[in-house]
Amino acid sequence: MEERIWWKEAVCYQVYPRSFNDSNQDGIGDINGIREKLDYLKDLGIDVIWVSPIFKSPNDDNGYDISDYQDIMDEFGTMEDFDLLLKETHDKGMKLILDLVINHTSDEHPWFIESKSSKDNPKRDWYIWKEGQQGKEPNNWGSIFNGSVWEQTPETDEYYMHIFSKKQPDLNWENEQVRSALYNMVNWWFNKGIDGFRVDAITHIKKSFDEGDLQYSNDDTTFKPAFERYTNRPGILEYLSELRDQTFNHFDIMTVGEANGVTPENAEDWVGFDHGIFNMIFQFEHLGLWNTEETGFDVIQYKEIMTKWQNQLESKGWNALFIENHDQPRLVSTWGDDERYWYESATSHATNYFLQKGTPFIYQGQELGMTNYPFESIYEFDDIAIKNEITLKQIKGESTEGLLETHRKVSRDNSRTVMQWDTTKHAGFSDVEPWFHVNPNYKQINVESELEDEYSVLNYYKRLISLKKSKDVFNYGVYQLIDKEHPQIYSYKRTLLSDEVIIMSNLTNEEALISKDINLSHYDLLLGNYDEVRQIDTLLPFETRVYQLR
Ligand code: GLC
Ligand code: CA
Repeated sequence: MEERIWWKEAVCYQVYPRSFNDSNQDGIGDINGIREKLDYLKDLGIDVIWVSPIFKSPNDDNGYDISDYQDIMDEFGTMEDFDLLLKETHDKGMKLILDLVINHTSDEHPWFIESKSSKDNPKRDWYIWKEGQQGKEPNNWGSIFNGSVWEQTPETDEYYMHIFSKKQPDLNWENEQVRSALYNMVNWWFNKGIDGFRVDAITHIKKSFDEGDLQYSNDDTTFKPAFERYTNRPGILEYLSELRDQTFNHFDIMTVGEANGVTPENAEDWVGFDHGIFNMIFQFEHLGLWNTEETGFDVIQYKEIMTKWQNQLESKGWNALFIENHDQPRLVSTWGDDERYWYESATSHATNYFLQKGTPFIYQGQELGMTNYPFESIYEFDDIAIKNEITLKQIKGESTEGLLETHRKVSRDNSRTVMQWDTTKHAGFSDVEPWFHVNPNYKQINVESELEDEYSVLNYYKRLISLKKSKDVFNYGVYQLIDKEHPQIYSYKRTLLSDEVIIMSNLTNEEALISKDINLSHYDLLLGNYDEVRQIDTLLPFETRVYQLR
């Protein structure tokens, strides 16, 4: 068996602090609000809590635009509150990891304020500045959040680069002073005792300026995101290995990189046990399947993608497992069925991803089966990327029709509505009107009601988590896909020495016949999401079962 390490056996939970729990009744979730819910998380079976950014920020992108890495956002509390959160988390036997956003800062960070002030400011080179081309942007690269990556400033007339919003200028990783300032900051947090970082947008720190414009014709106002020029570019691993050597390697911590653009083929460089940068990464390949509007959810393709990651890293590196986060719509409303098979689809998908080999992450509210929000107007969205899109269209005099229909299905704002704690007003999140919407279904879907109901999504998650912790085969067992051509059922085996389990999940809303090659007579049922097995050889809509070889 491979080496035992705590983070390989951990179940992680992501808190999006703004929407988690408001302790001081101003409508905004906060650090003391998280402290109030530590027992809830402990009771659920959580080992590691990842808290999305809590640092000083003008909140253009909800904290992913940081103006002081070593201070706490006023709305979230104080450093004393944070120290208590860390201590109490540890006292309860859990660990705490934070979000490390080092591809960019806020434009209100003192570094940037200095940098933009003049061409000869000592911090000028800390960001990426270029001259315009014939009165236009330096090149045709588009931002991930719509529009150009370039923004001109009046102080010098030059342009700075921002892959995300214009209030998130990209740091210049080519500059050694930038790198060492960041490493010092990272080590400062480790010395404080935090247990690791989720590392934001880290595949974007290297840019390929030599490769120039993208090949497409643009009419000045339409830009295409230039992923090909700023995602996982050659040379990036040099910076990242320096980051690892100067920081991560000196502490007993866990790291998970957000790694858009990394493929199973190059994953070992990123998470290999020997020379990888991070302990694990969030890969993006299965996220492409969220846009299922035309074809529906493709089970075969999903199996293919997940299996490639499982196989490629077997004995060589480690996977992070997730189906939701703060950048995705809710699972039950996309891959699942939030009406007819709400409970079944939430639990079938849960079982399927959770028992694969790797460290599973649960996003707040996922464990309740929280659903997408019924947005009724484009002005109800908060996401800066959507706001940019609306503004750009309006400037060009284009219609914004259709935006509502698309974004209400796929927008990440769907997962940012407030956590549903109970049936009281504002779902128990706050006594006052929250900063963002409360899903109208909170009277049915909430922690308090689900705790009382043995067959709730929440109690299913509890059973699932304790099952995972009960046997090493779920942590270290080798993964093997079964029946890869089955269009409805995702089944796989996990084996460790003489232990063998089979996990099978129908990921569709129709009955599905189990393959004849699987002889279930030698297996005992450990967990299922229907009250009983009605037909041994058939999985009902979104039925899932976990079996163990006798
Ligand atoms: C990551 C975060 C996302 C944020 C972006 C810019 O993708 O998960 O929420 O908007 O980086 O920091
Ligand atoms: Ca508050």
